[in-house]
Amino acid sequence: MEKTFLMVKPDGVQRGLIGEVISRFERKGFKLAAGKLMVISDDLAKKHYGEHADKPFFGELVDFITSGPVFAMIWEGEDVVKTARHMMGATKPSEADLGTIRGDFGLTVGKNIIHGSDSLESAEREMALFFGESAALEYKKSSDEWVY
Ligand code: PPS
Repeated sequence: MEKTFLMVKPDGVQRGLIGEVISRFERKGFKLAAGKLMVISDDLAKKHYGEHADKPFFGELVDFITSGPVFAMIWEGEDVVKTARHMMGATKPSEADLGTIRGDFGLTVGKNIIHGSDSLESAEREMALFFGESAALEYKKSSDEWVY
């Protein structure tokens, strides 16, 4: 089953939105496969956001994502990468539809509550970066047979 990497950013943790985010993905029917509260090191932040290294906001992005705890997660389900991106909404909260996480709670392009992998390749890379190769837990939920 497809997996993706999602992370409640420091603003989401400080505002008490971990439960809200988890609840949305649980209610959607996706399965939580891993989760941890952690502070990202400078090195991990630079690896994770490496594709933005030459953007003018890179320093601000690294400073922000390392400024406090994040809640890193792996979620599992059919088309979870694409669907999670829909549920998150556009990067800029001002362009995110109401009903999406960023549309409902995001404030700025930086303080936008949640990060989610944008492709299957990014998901593989980010899950390995944050959790190593074998961190996703395989288990059966009683709802599995009703969801897929
Ligand atoms: S780009 O240039 O279109 O590729 O960048 P964008 O998709 O808009 O943003 C990439 C990630 O950088 C974050 N971002 C920022 N963080 C802090 N400060 C500023 N100014 C800033 N601008 C963009 C943005 O939230 C994206 O984070 P992720 O975690 O990938 O969603």
